[in-house]
Amino acid sequence: MRAVDIIQKKKEGKAHTKEEIDFLIKGLMDGTVEDYQMSSWLMAVCFQGLNEDETAYMTEAFINSGEILDFSDISDTVADKHSTGGVGDKVTIILIPLLAALGVKCAKLSGRGLGYTGGTVDKLESIPNFKCQLEDKDFKAQIKNIGAAISAQTPNLTPADGKIYALRDVTATVDNKSLICASVVSKKIASGANIIVLDVKYGSGAFIKTKEEARELADLMIRTGAKLNRKIEAVISSMEQPLGTHIGNSLEVIESVEFLKGNYNKDLYEIVFEIAGHTLILAKIAKDFNEAKAMIDEAIKSGSALQKLKEIIKAQGGNPDCTDNYNLFNVGKNKFELKAEKEGYIAKLDALNIAKACKLLGAGRDKKTDSIDFGAGCILHKKTGEKIKKGDTLLTLYWNDILPQKIEEAKGYAALAFEYSPVQPEAEPIIYREKEILK
Ligand code: URA
Repeated sequence: MRAVDIIQKKKEGKAHTKEEIDFLIKGLMDGTVEDYQMSSWLMAVCFQGLNEDETAYMTEAFINSGEILDFSDISDTVADKHSTGGVGDKVTIILIPLLAALGVKCAKLSGRGLGYTGGTVDKLESIPNFKCQLEDKDFKAQIKNIGAAISAQTPNLTPADGKIYALRDVTATVDNKSLICASVVSKKIASGANIIVLDVKYGSGAFIKTKEEARELADLMIRTGAKLNRKIEAVISSMEQPLGTHIGNSLEVIESVEFLKGNYNKDLYEIVFEIAGHTLILAKIAKDFNEAKAMIDEAIKSGSALQKLKEIIKAQGGNPDCTDNYNLFNVGKNKFELKAEKEGYIAKLDALNIAKACKLLGAGRDKKTDSIDFGAGCILHKKTGEKIKKGDTLLTLYWNDILPQKIEEAKGYAALAFEYSPVQPEAEPIIYREKEILK
């Protein structure tokens, strides 16, 4: 078998056998398939697609590139969640300590930023000295001791996804449903979790642009999980505007801490509540969403969820004092405030333009070897539907050291993100509810 023939076959739109997919993934891992060959195959997949069998083969090959963790000696129920990627999506940083504080063991495998979307690993690494690259034994020990751990892929956990994820990020091969499915589902199965709740995002700031496509992706992930004997639940949510108010690595950790202190944005609360509610019910800790809500609110009010976040930060080498002293984050020392040009309402706040602005300021990567500025990003002061007066501050951009030309470009994208209306636009729900997805 030769990689070039497999690439040619996909270019011609033909379906692969399991052996061909295994050959590619094993070859990538042992160096007999080069990064450029894999990138070329990924692009062919974006044009020609993978069928459901090929998607399941790829998911399995990712899982088999490492180990599957087993928590049966710790707990009967271990939860994991994953988002298909968005702008300002800091749900994991809030949800994992929240669930752990309520007694759900959480084994969370996360990724770095991908395309214009942020990644939990980058966000958490903005906490000085926080380590995401956990050894399997440390990951497991931490879950046993404090109830939760958040790790990146390791040489033992879906390393093939780790490599391909980094290639997809910089070769415009992210937004294919099968590639997203294999990447997400493999990590969730390898993490050893038996409660898996996915947040499938659609809209301007997501890889999937419409509700209908998000539903297809959710279905594909549920069916791929079932083929590999794992039950998966999915929530479908909007990413037309950024989630919450802070975008950028350090800034998103700060917003997460504020959330756990009880200062939260309504949309962010709704998604955290939806995913936490599903998980608490599946873990048989809450009998229904009403009971789950009371528990979630109490974990925030009592400070137990924040305390759990501090424990996670400490266990993974970070300084938990950062939750009280935001100066420990290197938030951009330079600022620019964008002002409203007229009176009226925010008709649209485009997530993609905000993400482009933040990436230009240093919050994301162009090449897989690029370093990022954890302190770069923005805070939104107005969101879709809000009333504004001329001169109101719409957002503040933050950055450290970048070229003046990039700053100007970033300001341009930030301004483009806002559309105005003289009348209040109808509020779009953040969660797309469709019974058949949630069953
Ligand atoms: N998150 C992942 O882990 N992989 C994807 O492909 C998209 C989002």
